[in-house]
Amino acid sequence: MVDHQHWLDRWKENRIGFHEASVNRHLQTRFAQLAPPPDSSVFVPFCGKAQDMCWIAQQGYQVIGIELSQIAIEAFFEENSIAFERADSDRFTAYRSENICLLQGDFFDLRKDDLDGCELVYDRAALIALEHDDRPRYYDHMLSIMTASCNMLLITLEYDQMEMRGPPFSVPTDEVLQRYRDAFTIRLLKVRDIIDHGPRWRKVGLTALNESVFSLVR
Ligand SMILES: C[S@@+](CC[C@H](N)C(=O)[O-])C[C@H]1O[C@@H](n2cnc3c(N)ncnc32)[C@H](O)[C@@H]1O
Repeated sequence: MVDHQHWLDRWKENRIGFHEASVNRHLQTRFAQLAPPPDSSVFVPFCGKAQDMCWIAQQGYQVIGIELSQIAIEAFFEENSIAFERADSDRFTAYRSENICLLQGDFFDLRKDDLDGCELVYDRAALIALEHDDRPRYYDHMLSIMTASCNMLLITLEYDQMEMRGPPFSVPTDEVLQRYRDAFTIRLLKVRDIIDHGPRWRKVGLTALNESVFSLVR
C-alpha cells in the first residue's frame, strides 16, 4: 500500500528514482505557453526536492510547494544553498526563502486560501504518485483549492498497469480528460515513448511507457 509511510521511508532510505537531477525539459519548453501573470505564484504539489522549483523562481515567480517529507524539504534548501526560515502552524511546517515557500504536510490538508495568488499548478509526478482508487480524491481536492483563473501544466505516465504495480502509477489520458474537462480546456501537448530512457523500465517488466504532457487552461 502506498501510504504516507511509504514516501517517508523512501526519502529516509534515499530511494528517490523519481528525482530528476536537472530541470524538467517539458517545464522549460512549455512554461511560456502557460506563463502566469507577473508577481503571481506557481503551486507545485508533491514537490519533493525538484530542481524545477528553482527554475520557476528564477523566472520571477513565487513558488508554493507541498511535501510530506522533512528530509526532502531540507535537502532542497541545503543542496541549492538557499537560506530559509522555518515556522510551525496547526496544519503545516512552513519553510520560507525569499521566493520559495515549501509546506511540510499533507496535500489534502491544504485550503483554498493557502493558494491565494497561485495562477499555475505544475504537476509532475504528483497525480501519478497515487493509486487508481486514491486519484478521485486528488482531482476533487485540487479543483477545490485552485483559484478560478489558475491553469495547469500536467505530466503523466501511461502503461499497462498489469505489467507493473507502481508507483509511478499509470494514468490514462481519458481519465485526465474526464476528470478535468468541466474546469479546463485541455490540450495534449506531447506524447512520447520513454520505455528506453534508462534501463529500469524494461527491467521491471514494462513493454511500453508513454509520457504525456497536458496544458489545462481556464
Ligand atoms: C513521485 S515523487 C515526485 C516528487 C516531485 N514532484 C518530483 O518531480 O521530483 C512524489 C512525492 O510526493 C510526496 N507525497 C506523497 N503523498 C503526499 C501527500 N499526500 N501530500 C504531500 N506530499 C506527498 C512524496 O513524499 C514524494 O516526495
